[in-house]
Amino acid sequence: MTAPRQTPHLRPVAHFTARDTWLNDPNGLVHVGGTYHLFFQNNPEGSTWGNMSWGHATSTDLVTWTEHEVALRHTEQEQIFSGSVVVDHDNTAGFAGPGETALVAIYTSAYSASSPLHGRQVQSLAYSVDAGMTWTPHAGNPVLDRESSDFRDPKVFRWGGADGYWVMAAVEAADRQVVLYSSPDLRTWTLLSEFGPAHAVGGVWECPDLFPVRVAGTGETRWVLVVSLTPGALAGGGGTQYFVGDFDGVRFVPERLSAREELAGFDWLDHGRDYYAAVSFDNVPEDRRLMIGWANNWDYAAETPTWPWRGAMSLAREVDLVRCPDGALRVRQRPVLPTDIEGLTVFDLEVPSGPGEVSEVRITTADGADPLLLRVDGDARTLSCDRSRCGDVDFHPSFPSEDTATLRLAGATTRLRVVVDACLVEVFAEDGLVTLTQQVFPTAPLTTYDTRTVVRSGHAPGDAR
Ligand code: FRU
Repeated sequence: MTAPRQTPHLRPVAHFTARDTWLNDPNGLVHVGGTYHLFFQNNPEGSTWGNMSWGHATSTDLVTWTEHEVALRHTEQEQIFSGSVVVDHDNTAGFAGPGETALVAIYTSAYSASSPLHGRQVQSLAYSVDAGMTWTPHAGNPVLDRESSDFRDPKVFRWGGADGYWVMAAVEAADRQVVLYSSPDLRTWTLLSEFGPAHAVGGVWECPDLFPVRVAGTGETRWVLVVSLTPGALAGGGGTQYFVGDFDGVRFVPERLSAREELAGFDWLDHGRDYYAAVSFDNVPEDRRLMIGWANNWDYAAETPTWPWRGAMSLAREVDLVRCPDGALRVRQRPVLPTDIEGLTVFDLEVPSGPGEVSEVRITTADGADPLLLRVDGDARTLSCDRSRCGDVDFHPSFPSEDTATLRLAGATTRLRVVVDACLVEVFAEDGLVTLTQQVFPTAPLTTYDTRTVVRSGHAPGDAR
């Protein structure tokens, strides 16, 4: 068999991709001594899912990443599924020697057919005493076993400071439940509570996260519970929903649950098809909440036409909460883009979106080919993105798509920040209240755009203002 054609023009510059292998979920996002660590679900031996291990990359600006040796490698009997990393400042787990600080990874062990535990998913630990560069599995693994085949993706955080305890959010994926546990030492765990099923339940629940976030312009905070689901998400296939509420150290209680069953009535971190398994960093200074998602969709992830790597991460996004005109608190996400980056195209636009107005942004190659169309509809109050004529779309039937988001603000104009980076487009509308992330596979970089606004009949141009 000949190897597929290399696709260097599709390699993003500001979104992490593995050198020449497969990746999916971000894992163990943690900030240590000025360095951001991104571990990730990785097949070190190929460009499709399998041999799951934790790959490893670091960055000081969240944009330029350096890939390192595989941090946690699969064995004959065990695959290393998703999980998180915490800084064990007080050495509660006892892994650090004198003068050392341990990082502790909490991950899912998924056992292979040759293991006596085949079919079970349990939680295990590994630790690093060299700031995340090398890892040792804990001799007492696993540390938490519910005798379940779908118990995975532990996200651990500290509750109550030095006098508090560790909290783990994980999923019973097939039951569509987030399960919360507590521990004094990361080794022994006690069930606190369960959340779900709730809102979107048309697929398995995966990769939960639970964290406090500031409400913009107030001194208040709320807790946000994030949970991915696949399939059954708003745009089709996988997606990431969230709930805003309170956590008292035992239980998460959402502020509001929608009684209706429409997917569009629930809260989603993203409205495109390519934002999954998003989780936040631990230990970031000044309580900033930064998230990264896997910019992909399980529907077609195995077939995306890049080579020799497959799969990319989203940009890092800083999140907070905003009170919307309908009274609800919603997550706002803004990309972390510290500097001008060569090869990255960022458009900041303010397009007309009053009554009767439909604004279209057409993003193409320098030759005007492979159009990606963004549309803001002032009557419907929607933002949509049509990638069905943008480059290679035929590799999977559910790839060509037009996806739509509901705008949250009323306004004669709508602000859009569009980041185009080779095979990824991230749209941040209304200052990040609405985001839409899509993969695209154009024949050449999408570096050009034009905008136009049409006015529906019955409206005079400028009606809105
Ligand atoms: C989510 C997921 C996780 C699991 C991992 C395996 O994309 O299915 O639930 O831990 O991927 O690679």
